[in-house]
Formats: sequence, C-alpha cells, structure tokens
Amino acid sequence: MIFCFSGTGNSRRVAERLSRLLGEEVTEMNRTTYEVAASVPVADGLTVWVFPVHSWGLPDFVVRFMRRVGGGCGAGVAGRHYMVCTCGDDIGLAHRQWRRLVADRGWRPMAAYSVQMPNTYVVFPGFDVDSQETARRKLDASEDRVVSVASMIMSGATADDVEEGALPWIKSHLVYPYFMKRMISPEPFRVDAGRCIGCGRCENACPLGNVRLGAGRLPAWGADCTMCLGCYHVCPRHAVEYGRRTRGKGQYYCPNS
Ligand SMILES: Cc1cc2nc3c(=O)[nH]c(=O)nc-3n(C[C@H](O)[C@H](O)[C@H](O)COP(=O)(O)O)c2cc1C
Repeated sequence: MIFCFSGTGNSRRVAERLSRLLGEEVTEMNRTTYEVAASVPVADGLTVWVFPVHSWGLPDFVVRFMRRVGGGCGAGVAGRHYMVCTCGDDIGLAHRQWRRLVADRGWRPMAAYSVQMPNTYVVFPGFDVDSQETARRKLDASEDRVVSVASMIMSGATADDVEEGALPWIKSHLVYPYFMKRMISPEPFRVDAGRCIGCGRCENACPLGNVRLGAGRLPAWGADCTMCLGCYHVCPRHAVEYGRRTRGKGQYYCPNS
C-alpha cells in the first residue's frame, strides 16, 4: 500500500512511479479518504508514505491522517513502513517526526528517503518557484532517484537516506512549529475576479475539499487548509493570490500529474 498526499503533483508523480516499481496500489490522502480513514486497514506488509515536506516537517494534514488511519484495524500490526518525502531542497529532521508518528501507532518504521523535486513554496519573501531549467533538471534526476529508492525498499533497507540540509534542528524544531501555528491560514487567499474564468481547477486541486466555487463561479476558501498551494499553482490565469505575498511570484504544477 502507498499512501500519497500531494498539493501540486510532485509527490503524486513519485508515488505513481513507485507504484509501478513496487507493484503496490496508491491511496490518496485527501478529504474523502480521511472521512473513512479509521476503517481503512493498515496491512501487515509494506506501507509507503509519500508526501511533500512543509517547512521542514510533515504537512499538518498528513499528521492528522496518520493518527487516524487504521484506527479500528491497524492496532498491533507492525508492518514495514517507509517514508518518501519530496522537497525543493532539503527536509531537515522531518524523517524523525515521521518515525515518531509511526512508532506511536505501534507500526515499524523501516527507513526514510527524500526526493528533490521542483519547489512550490512561494509565500515567504525571497522564495519562488525554480527556473524552468532547474525544474527540468530536478524532474530528470528524480527518475533515477525513485528507481534507487524502490530498490532500497525492495531489499528491506533500514538506513535513512535523506537530505537534511543546513541547521536541521533549528528548522524542524523552531521554524516548523512556528509555521504550523502562524502560517497555514487560508484567510489571505483571494481571487482576482477580473482574471478568474470560473474553470473550477482550484476546487478540483484542493485535496482537502476546502475550495468551493460560489456566486459567479468564483472560488471561496473554507477554514481547513494545509497550505499545499495547489489552488494557487493550478490556476491557468494566475488569478489566485495569497494576499500581497504571491504578487510577482511564479507558478508550477507537476507535468503528467
Ligand atoms: C507550505 C510549503 C512548505 C514547503 N517547505 C519546504 C521545505 O521546508 N523544504 C523544501 O526543500 N521544500 C519545501 N517546500 C517545497 C515542496 O516540499 C516540494 O516542492 C514538494 O515536492 C511539493 O510536493 P507536492 O507537489 O506533492 O505538493 C514547501 C512547499 C510548501 C507548499
């Protein structure tokens, strides 16, 4: 079983390639599967968790999903659990957070891997999407990386192989909690009504079902956001904004996703 959460398609692309290499099915972590997660069994075999890093930790929604899934039928089943975390650059100590969550559920954490993909974080000053050339280079390199991750998983490897980056403790233990507390509000999201064409891609892209088209087919945001930025990046008219902070920033949505 492969559980996958993805805002802008990078992690979905990795999960789909792993699925072909490992012969495991992909289950998306989204609003629909969250509702029934307690009754989704966590098998006594291989489970691979694929998701993006968010501020050097796990996306809030992935944490919630991991705590809920298999509630009625996963207890006492250790299995073999692997983490495959996509990132623009590095993941800090996100793998340790994942190991703790897995162990708390009584499951067996085997190993954690990171896969560099094009960057999607654009909200903070100084952060933007990669150039087209860099994005292409990362996507190309990720193909071999996923094959190597799959072969480590198949061999039953137990050593983590992740890019922690510089100052990982500070990023994961100080920046991550601050980010989760203060910077995942959906409140600043808005749409430029002059540019919006009411296509509904933002609504479809939201894994949490938090974007709904309202009057005049303009999107409106609810309260449950995990800040994946899918709604912002998927817009074909660049009409979705996060206050003034995305002004002049680029967009990226994973090809073939
Ligand atoms: C809210 C947010 C925070 C992010 N934080 C990090 C980070 O700490 N380190 C990093 O290298 N990339 C970071 N990124 C980039 C994504 O992890 C990366 O682009 C990932 O592949 C996106 O996957 P997805 O398309 O499946 O959502 C962040 C992206 C978002 C939206």
